[in-house]
Amino acid sequence: MIKSQTCETITIGSTEIMLAHPAELPLRWVGQKELIKQVLAAWMVIDEKDVPFNPRLTGKPGVGKTTLGYAAARQLNRNIYLFQATMDTRPEDLIITPVMGADGQVKYAASSLVTAMIRGGVCILDEGNRMSEKSWASLAPLLDDRRYVESIITGLTIPADPNFRFVVTINEDASTYEIPEYIHSRLQPQIFIDFPDREDELLILKENLPFADEDILNYMVDFLQRAHMADEVYSVRDGINMARYAMKMMHGTRTAKQEAIHHAILSVLGDESLRYEE
Ligand SMILES: Nc1ncnc2c1ncn2[C@@H]1O[C@H](COP(=O)(O)OP(=O)(O)O)[C@@H](O)[C@H]1O
Ligand SMILES: [Mg+2]
Repeated sequence: MIKSQTCETITIGSTEIMLAHPAELPLRWVGQKELIKQVLAAWMVIDEKDVPFNPRLTGKPGVGKTTLGYAAARQLNRNIYLFQATMDTRPEDLIITPVMGADGQVKYAASSLVTAMIRGGVCILDEGNRMSEKSWASLAPLLDDRRYVESIITGLTIPADPNFRFVVTINEDASTYEIPEYIHSRLQPQIFIDFPDREDELLILKENLPFADEDILNYMVDFLQRAHMADEVYSVRDGINMARYAMKMMHGTRTAKQEAIHHAILSVLGDESLRYEE
């Protein structure tokens, strides 16, 4: 449901800035608990002289990177802000952009990242590999001991609250920018998310499709495990989509179970994938 929200604003120097809204997603992480612990350990500060890390979650598309970042952030009980990086993300989009107010006056809007910095929340920069080197460069001082960003548009330097935490997800696919080395070195540690084992994969499907038929879930997990063995890119996300579609086919068109499964695999992944059928 979309609730009408009034924009919070803060004033820095003499500039009034509108803040972004935190994200509230119904995501829960199941299985591979050590991954959550690794993210939380990276964020810990263990001494006055210590600083938090900016972990980088890597893995193939659909293995659970965004879900992991979100679930770990929720353990901190702070507001969570999502920033979706794209090829069109400009440096100022990450920081502060001018917007036209209803009264025709120019106002300034903080990005979700800068809102997290100000509020002491967690920022998940999603699919950071889609963003250009130029945009990454604007985050360099934030990601080292300096912990601030500079807004060219407003002339402000904005320090991060000590509670601010940052995590980036990086898709391992070819269609994206190489992140420059000086940025890579600031996005540590790297936490790699591999395909889940059979038991965890079944738990994940059940968590996401609690209403689904057991046979369908078991079939999809076997299918996925065979594909993982062959290092195919099919992920648990594909499994969720296939199981969901098979359920809809059974309910909506009265297709028999086996036929619904076959049709769902074909529709979601194409005929190449049929070799992993039983
Ligand atoms: N460990 C997990 N626990 C719960 N759901 C998971 C888990 N791993 C993946 N998922 C589910 O799989 C789908 C893809 O996960 P997502 O985090 O979007 O992947 P990525 O960001 O790596 O592309 C989502 O529907 C997510 O809820
Ligand atoms: Mg993602």
